[in-house]
Amino acid sequence: MSDTHEQDFLRRLDAVSAATETALRSLLSNETEPGEILRPARLLEAMRYAARGGKRLRPFLVIESAALFEVPEKQSLSAAAALECIHGYSLVHDDLPAMDDDDLRRGQPTVHRAFDEATAILAGDSLLTLAFDILARETTHPDPAIRTALVLLLARASGLGGMAGGQMLDLEAEGRFVPDRRPLALQAKEIERLQAMKTGALLSAACEAGAILGGAKEAERRALLDYAKNFGLAFQISDDLIDAEGDTKTVGKRTGKDAEHGKATLVGELGIAGAKKRLSDLVAKAEGALLPFGGKAAMLASAVRFLATRDR
Ligand code: IPE
Ligand code: IPE
Ligand code: MG
Ligand code: MG
Ligand code: MG
Repeated sequence: MSDTHEQDFLRRLDAVSAATETALRSLLSNETEPGEILRPARLLEAMRYAARGGKRLRPFLVIESAALFEVPEKQSLSAAAALECIHGYSLVHDDLPAMDDDDLRRGQPTVHRAFDEATAILAGDSLLTLAFDILARETTHPDPAIRTALVLLLARASGLGGMAGGQMLDLEAEGRFVPDRRPLALQAKEIERLQAMKTGALLSAACEAGAILGGAKEAERRALLDYAKNFGLAFQISDDLIDAEGDTKTVGKRTGKDAEHGKATLVGELGIAGAKKRLSDLVAKAEGALLPFGGKAAMLASAVRFLATRDR
């Protein structure tokens, strides 16, 4: 990536992070909303802890996708924050002892380590429900049809046939539910389907939320989704490469765990060099999908190129 494009992207990502941080802080304030009885301090603190840090790539995708259709950031920030709540929840549960059993996340102890398992489960539950609370608010969009479309989009992307379903396939692929616990021998296509669900679904929903907020035409929506699909696959390969090659201190989470757990990854299937080649092909495809948007999509193009070079 040329230096100036990369710098522009990193600056923009920083700005989106700051805006997301502010939005989440206000959503997770001590003040109850109408209909709430009490916000228990321990649960609220765990939710804030779970929501801290992170690269905020999903909010970035919502905001920059919406910006293709001239939607100003203040009108896309709520949906962006909702997506980040779902992502945060998915990480809290992903790290639980019953799932990936991780101690470190974003450079800090995982939520169940900093608090306890029951609190972590409830913090995840409450972040998930908060996401839909946010989407249903009139401040997210004045048109109820748009809000309903966002609710449906995020529900489908997070649940059975999306992220949670993908997490199920991920754990099944480890071989945990068969008597000899031998990892399943998945083909590259099956691994990509699993990853399109566990990681891709929320990243695609981020872009599609932008399209919904912006009233995109069908062809524009399809182009953006084509970008998102390739972005999602590239993103998980880069996550798996970081697990294989990165060091824990830089990454902020323990590395080398995928091979240890027999996770189904393209790094395992194709090797490091093969996975890098697939990653760069996917980046090129994602960039290609943005061509109909011309120069307006420069930020989204930089974002997918970033996946090939990121180290955390
Ligand atoms: C990590 O996602 C988990 C996956 C979905 C593979 P990110 O790399 O976006 O995590 P944060 O939010 O920046 O910590
Ligand atoms: C997690 O994938 C995907 C979700 C949280 C849905 P990973 O298990 O590879 O993510 P990390 O590496 O723990 O962040
Ligand atoms: Mg996992
Ligand atoms: Mg994990
Ligand atoms: Mg990983």
